[in-house]
Amino acid sequence: MRVLSVASECVPLVKTGGLADVAGALPAALAGDGVEMRVLLPGYRAVMAAQDKAPVLCDIPELFGGPARILQGVLGDTTLYILDAPHLFDRQGGIYLGPDGRDWPDNPQRFAALCKAAVLIAAKGVGGWRPQVLHLHDWQAGLVPVYLRQSGVRDVKTLLTIHNIAFQGLAPAQMLSSLQLPAQLFNPRGFEYWGRISALKAGIVFADKVSTVSPTYAEELMTPEFGMGMEGVLADRAGDFTGILNGIDLDVWKPPYADPKDKAPYRTALREEFGLPKADGPLCVVVSRLTGQKGLDLLIEALPALLENGGQLAVLGSGDPGLEAAFSQAAARYSGVALRLGYDEPLAHRMIAGGDAILVPSRFEPCGLTQLYGLRFGTLPLVSLTGGLADTVINASAAGLAAGVATGVQFHPVNAQALSRALTRLCGLWRQPAVWRRMMRNAMTHPVGWDASARAYADLFRAMTA
Ligand code: ADP
Ligand code: GLC
Repeated sequence: MRVLSVASECVPLVKTGGLADVAGALPAALAGDGVEMRVLLPGYRAVMAAQDKAPVLCDIPELFGGPARILQGVLGDTTLYILDAPHLFDRQGGIYLGPDGRDWPDNPQRFAALCKAAVLIAAKGVGGWRPQVLHLHDWQAGLVPVYLRQSGVRDVKTLLTIHNIAFQGLAPAQMLSSLQLPAQLFNPRGFEYWGRISALKAGIVFADKVSTVSPTYAEELMTPEFGMGMEGVLADRAGDFTGILNGIDLDVWKPPYADPKDKAPYRTALREEFGLPKADGPLCVVVSRLTGQKGLDLLIEALPALLENGGQLAVLGSGDPGLEAAFSQAAARYSGVALRLGYDEPLAHRMIAGGDAILVPSRFEPCGLTQLYGLRFGTLPLVSLTGGLADTVINASAAGLAAGVATGVQFHPVNAQALSRALTRLCGLWRQPAVWRRMMRNAMTHPVGWDASARAYADLFRAMTA
C-alpha cells in the first residue's frame, strides 16, 4: 500500500505544533503494517537548507506565479518529496506568518500549490512512484480532492485528517479563478463558506474519508459548541468520519528512570534550573503554545488553589502577548511560579522528567501530545475533560481510584472554578504517597505509542482502496 502524506509541517524539519510530530512519526509507525508512506512538504527555506543535495525529480514550468520543481529528499528512512517553489516558500519569517505576525497574504496560493503538486504526483507518479492514497493534513492540503476531480484521476483515494478545526483556510471569493478552482463548486454544498472559499471545507466535503485525532473530538466536532461552523458539513459526512488517536515516539519520549521513586533527582534539578525553592507540594509543569485554545488564562486565575496547597508551577511557552505578560507577572509576584518564554525542546524534556504533574486545561483539544508525554514519564496529567484529553487520561474519580486504574485528574466544566478544585484535588492526591505512586505506575504503563492507531490508519487505507 502506497500512501503520500501531504503536510505543511513535519519533524525534524519544520514544526509549529503537534501536526509536525504526527506527520513525522506516521511513516515509521505504518511501515510494520504494510504501508509505505512518503511525505510531501513545502520547500521552506529551512527545509531547502537541510536538504541541499536533494535531486530534482520533475519540473513544473508555472505554479501560481513562478516555476517550481519536485525534489527527492530524505526523512530518516522515509522518502520525502519537496515542493521547491522559491516565489512561494523561500522567504524569511514563519511558515504561516510573516515578520509582522500576520498570515502571509498569499497563503491561499502557497498551499494551493502544495495541493497541485500532490495531484501531479497522484496523476503521473514521480520518480516511478505513484500513491494509491493521499493522506491530507488540515486545510493546507484541503484543496487536493477538488484538484484531483478536475484532473480526472479516479483511482487515487483521499483521507483528510483534521488536526485543528480553528484553521479553516479561508480566501476571498475573488480568488476563485487565480486558485484555478471550479466556479460550479463554489456553493454551500461545495467549498463556499459564508461567501468565502474554505480549503478545509473543500477537504471535508470532497475527500473520500475524513478523520480527526481522537474519537471524542470527532463527536465534539459535529456539535455547534466545537464545530466552529463546520458541524453541519461534518455531520453530513458522519458515515465516513472517524477519530484515530495520535501516538508519541517512544524512543524520543523515554523517561530516564524506570521506577517512580527515581524521579527525585530530575525534580530537584528542575527546581534549580527554574530557581524554585524546595516545597511541600507537587511541582507542576506546562509546555504549550500560549493561545486561547489551551485555557491557560484559566490557570492564571486558578493559581491560588495550587500555591495555597504547597504546589509550584514551571511554564515553558510562547504565543499570545497578553498570556506571556500574565505569566510574567505571576512569576514576578509568586516565588512558586517560574516562566521561560520561548520554544525549547531539550528543556521540554527536562520539565516532563522533573515535574510531578503536567497541566493541560484546554478549552478544546483535538488530541494533545503533552499529556501523553506526561503519562509515559509518570508526570501525572491534570486535564480538562475534552477531546483527546478525555480519551487518554483516566480520572482519579472515586471509581477510578477504587479500581486502581487512575492515571491523572480531569475537570469539567472548563472554567477557573473547576480548575481550582482540580488543583486542590491534585495536591490532596500528592499528599497520599501510596496513591500517587500507584497512579504514576498506571500512567507509565498506559500505552501511548503508535501501535493501535497505526493499525487503525492502515485498516482505513486498505478499506478505502479495496
Ligand atoms: P498543539 O499542536 O495544539 O500545539 P500538541 O500537544 O498536539 O498541541 O503538540 C504540541 C507540541 O509542541 C508538543 O510536542 C509540545 O511538546 C511542543 N511544544 C509546545 N510548546 C513548546 C515550547 N515552548 N517548547 C518546546 N516544545 C513545545
Ligand atoms: C493540533 C491539535 C492537537 C493535536 C495536534 C496533532 O495542533 O491542537 O491537539 O495533538 O494537532 O494532531
